[in-house]
Amino acid sequence: MATDTPAVPDDEIEIGQPLPFSVYNARGRLIMQRGEVVDSRHQRAMLLTEGVSIAREGDPAPEPVEEPDDDEEEEETGDGEQVGESDSESAQVFRTMRPEAPSARYFNPFMEMERICTVVTKAFNAFKNGESTFSARILRLAHRIDSLVQYDPSAMITATLSERELSYTISHCLEMAVVGSAMAGKAGLSEQERVDAICAALTGNIGMLRLQERLEGFAGKISEKVRSALREHPRRSYDLLKGMPHVSPGWLKAVLQHHERVDGQGYPNGISGKAIARIVPPIAIADAYLALVAPRGYRHAVDPPQALEYIIQQGGQAWPEQWSKVLLDTVGLHPPGAYVRLSDNRIGLVVRPGKEDKKKPLVAIAMEGHNKRVHRGQIIDLADPGSPSITGSVSPNDLTVPINHALVCGYE
Ligand SMILES: [Fe+2]
Repeated sequence: MATDTPAVPDDEIEIGQPLPFSVYNARGRLIMQRGEVVDSRHQRAMLLTEGVSIAREGDPAPEPVEEPDDDEEEEETGDGEQVGESDSESAQVFRTMRPEAPSARYFNPFMEMERICTVVTKAFNAFKNGESTFSARILRLAHRIDSLVQYDPSAMITATLSERELSYTISHCLEMAVVGSAMAGKAGLSEQERVDAICAALTGNIGMLRLQERLEGFAGKISEKVRSALREHPRRSYDLLKGMPHVSPGWLKAVLQHHERVDGQGYPNGISGKAIARIVPPIAIADAYLALVAPRGYRHAVDPPQALEYIIQQGGQAWPEQWSKVLLDTVGLHPPGAYVRLSDNRIGLVVRPGKEDKKKPLVAIAMEGHNKRVHRGQIIDLADPGSPSITGSVSPNDLTVPINHALVCGYE
């Protein structure tokens, strides 16, 4: 039998093990299905705090409580209905997909990112297998990402740029989604616009996934045929997404336009100025900036201040000028998740841009001297009097020992 509160036995929920019962929330909605693997401490804590009833094998599920403004996250709803052009239909789907805001008590951006990586990998596998659940998975993930990024943009950027397990193709989209959402939030774009931008960042390149994987690490000259296939990818991605459920007009438009430039020199249609949707610049800037600051098989990462300089130079040509400033405000001179060398010879992991002076962020001490790892970092504000200054960037490839970012930032 499904039982009433408090009925989630914590001694039976083990991380890395299948859940022995299904867990339901106060509204009788399924939070997690029996047999699904509990993949993080955050997920375990969420089951214990939000779960109020369970159903073991053979037990009936509790009766759901009808509420008009239900905004619980749905489980795997891939066969949802097609979103029409009308705002009200779109808004309705938007509301039902919106997750709960994160709770300060359990917020751990590194655990959240671990979960997001699992979900995004599953979503891309669904796409590769031609499953109809792809777009619903992406939309649900976009709401989750936006909710977390708006809650703490710097923490989520740190966790995203610290991630090293995903392939470049997927990790780059995820980074674009997180930084794009943070920029869109800073610029005052609406929740619907931010979610559309995240969806577009995650799916804008699905029209060239195979080509992208083939080109990864390739440093030679690209043939004319490959170049034209690359220039066509926004249209191919648009065509693939067009018939899928839950894909809003804003999402579709941003996918088609994500390589257009305000000076008309972009592709595939060479449109310019105000013809480009206003959710495109944060994605386009995040795309360009993150591609530069990431180390690739055939070249070193570009120093973040230099990458930022390039973004500022491109203002007014590739995107409206004011958007370059939004990037500076969002990531500072050295982005959250980047390593910097300090004047006292320690190495810091940037965790938050400086409030006033962008050269003086908050850093977590990651290493003392050349190779002495710090297990539980001390966070210091470089704007405080007497603090060391930044003398340069440090590439993750140049570190002599691996660093656990969650520990360094004090999350575990
Ligand atoms: Fe693209």
